[in-house]
Amino acid sequence: MPAIVTHAIGKSILFGEHAVVYGYPAIAVPIPALRTKVVIKADIRAPSGTITFHAPDINIHDEINNLPAENVLVRAVQLFKETYNIKRFPSFQLTLTSEIPVASGLGSSASISVAIVKAIAQHMGLRLPLAKINDLAYELEKGFHGNPSGIDNTVVTYEKSLYYVRGEEPQFLQSPIPLHILLINSHVQSLTSEVVAAVRQQYEQDKERVQHVFQSIGTITDDAREALQQGNKTVLGELMNRNHALLQQLDISTPELDTIASTAQEAGALGAKLCGAGRGGNVIALVREADIPGIRTALSAQGFKDSIHTVIQ
Ligand code: PMV
Repeated sequence: MPAIVTHAIGKSILFGEHAVVYGYPAIAVPIPALRTKVVIKADIRAPSGTITFHAPDINIHDEINNLPAENVLVRAVQLFKETYNIKRFPSFQLTLTSEIPVASGLGSSASISVAIVKAIAQHMGLRLPLAKINDLAYELEKGFHGNPSGIDNTVVTYEKSLYYVRGEEPQFLQSPIPLHILLINSHVQSLTSEVVAAVRQQYEQDKERVQHVFQSIGTITDDAREALQQGNKTVLGELMNRNHALLQQLDISTPELDTIASTAQEAGALGAKLCGAGRGGNVIALVREADIPGIRTALSAQGFKDSIHTVIQ
């Protein structure tokens, strides 16, 4: 039996992170340059129900019964059993590898969730529509983040730029011109669940102030949707800078992220902001293609040598 191979991409949030958890809109873009790969090999010699997990990046090679209950594959198998009333799985070995750095705001957990859901569905002979893959991946995302907004699994499942409001159908967005972006890694890791909890604490302590910040982020996101659809890069860049300033007010930027954003801006980026949970991870910068070498040189001089160039259509 040939192996099943599935992929899922990375993502970046262009506008509206954190506010999206509270029902405000956000815009996310696919990052196809970064991918998670899952390979399932049927294990016909093993007794039925034998499932083995290989994740060489994190040095896991174990039988599912030996893995902790919060392990993503353990949860995925349970989720499929409950959703599709499966008593026993045909035996398989699942190997997971990913190019997406963990805890860096680029959708690593969503990508792992989507790739695993696609692979197990294929292994079980289920032809699932994207909406169903998205729903199942969202369930797995909960195990990573507790109370995710759902934007990450949605953009990773559909692989399209989208405007997202929690609980509503995503609206797909298209720019009339290619948008060049750089993702610059601060090399500081941060856990989304911890940063989301820290913002929640601020919200509980001073609802009026934090809600005001969210509202301003929501307005910026709405303006950005229009600018993106018109291909107005100058406005988009300005809106990104303003979104970053509002995220600073939520105390989720760091000296590294601020240095990256200001260095990119000074070297010619049209706009730059932290992306994802913050307190580490990456900065997303909107750039003109011709400016990329100069921006990279300026960033390297500050010690930030790792950046990914990608194009949003
Ligand atoms: O850090 P990431 O890539 O998992 O992005 C999280 C985005 C948040 O808005 C902070 C949380 C969420 O659930 O939407």
